[in-house]
Amino acid sequence: MKCILMNKDTEVLVAEYDSGVGVFTKIYDIYNIDYAPYILNSFYTKEDFNNKHFRTNLSKWFQGRGIPSWRDKLDLLLHRLNITAPSELLDKAFGLSLSDQYWLKPYDSYIKHDDINFFGNDFEYSEFLSASLSKNSKVITSEKSLRTPNNTTDGMLKKAWIIDKGTRYLLKDGYKNELLQPFNEVLASEICKRLGFNHVEYTIDIYKDMVVSKCPCFINKDTEFITCYQIKNDMKKHNNKEDYEDYIKLLENKGIKDAREKLENMYILDFLIMNEDRHLNNFGIIRDVNTLQWLDVAPIFDNGQSLKIEYYDEEELHISGEGRLFYEVKPFNEIIKVVKDLKRIDISKLDGIVEWFDELLHKYQHLTKFSDIRINRLCILLNRQINKLKELIEE
Ligand SMILES: Nc1ncnc2c1ncn2[C@@H]1O[C@H](COP(=O)(O)OP(=O)(O)OP(=O)(O)O)[C@@H](O)[C@H]1O
Ligand SMILES: [Mg+2]
Repeated sequence: MKCILMNKDTEVLVAEYDSGVGVFTKIYDIYNIDYAPYILNSFYTKEDFNNKHFRTNLSKWFQGRGIPSWRDKLDLLLHRLNITAPSELLDKAFGLSLSDQYWLKPYDSYIKHDDINFFGNDFEYSEFLSASLSKNSKVITSEKSLRTPNNTTDGMLKKAWIIDKGTRYLLKDGYKNELLQPFNEVLASEICKRLGFNHVEYTIDIYKDMVVSKCPCFINKDTEFITCYQIKNDMKKHNNKEDYEDYIKLLENKGIKDAREKLENMYILDFLIMNEDRHLNNFGIIRDVNTLQWLDVAPIFDNGQSLKIEYYDEEELHISGEGRLFYEVKPFNEIIKVVKDLKRIDISKLDGIVEWFDELLHKYQHLTKFSDIRINRLCILLNRQINKLKELIEE
């Protein structure tokens, strides 16, 4: 299919897309490289349309928009969607997503972004939701159910976009049905709210007797989320520390206010809940797709892999842990050292939060079947981290 890669209303390039395999086989012309996905834009110029690497990386980027091969229970999902590979879904809804504004416009068409984007146009989500999250679900038969932003979600966890009273929400299940994940997300939101950190608000939702997390979309039809992974090529890649500083400098140069503090806030949260999953696609920036202005650091999201979620056993309390600072996995006690001034944190704002979390976990105990011991252990871990941070602040 000959098509134009669009960024909202801006024509980026003209290419031939092979729908069967999900690759671009030819690039005819580049109209506006500045509006290309950041990961391409930072490497190539307008003269690169004959460059084989550019075409390969364009395909790689587009395939990267699809459901990843490491999605929990992917085989079951593909069976329920009646397809053999996630790449089959990529262009079913013009490649649109709810995290950015890129789409493929058939070359001769007059379709407008306004008519098709999922921010302003509703989509049929119930069958995809059921296929993604239900224990029992039928095979999808309606093509309409495959024209949704669920074709372009990243991440390991089973998930689905839904519409509730006009707002787009992402529902996420726990990994291998580990039910702690949604509670960790809600705990992270509560900590961020109390400490004044810009964050995505997660709540608990019940879907067919299952506990899932629910959060609103933090992008609108004029913005895109650019992950740190896409930006990392701009950095020197010397080592962790230098890249961290380079990243902050870049954000500041692009006009993002308080970039350092906002990044530090994310690492403070990670310390408090022992979040092990702060990889480079779990944070980034928000850009205006009309002006290409960098607007802000993205609100803190995806905090579920925390409180030793994978290491629970009834006999032993696992207390040491490692998180991520850019490319490196490091003990939390090391990572927290990137925070220049911990005294700016009013830790008393967290008074009572352990009791609050204990109550939340007990409230849903009839569904999660968490033992009292497990709930107690989770609260001990949280309490330990808060006390450790208190000590560091007082040092
Ligand atoms: N509220 C949101 N608004 C817009 N985009 C979002 C939102 N939440 C998540 N995303 C996008 O979806 C991707 C996957 O979401 P998320 O990171 O929460 O899933 P995950 O399965 O927990 O990921 P991981 O593989 O890191 O564990 C994110 O990287 C981001 O691009
Ligand atoms: Mg993620």
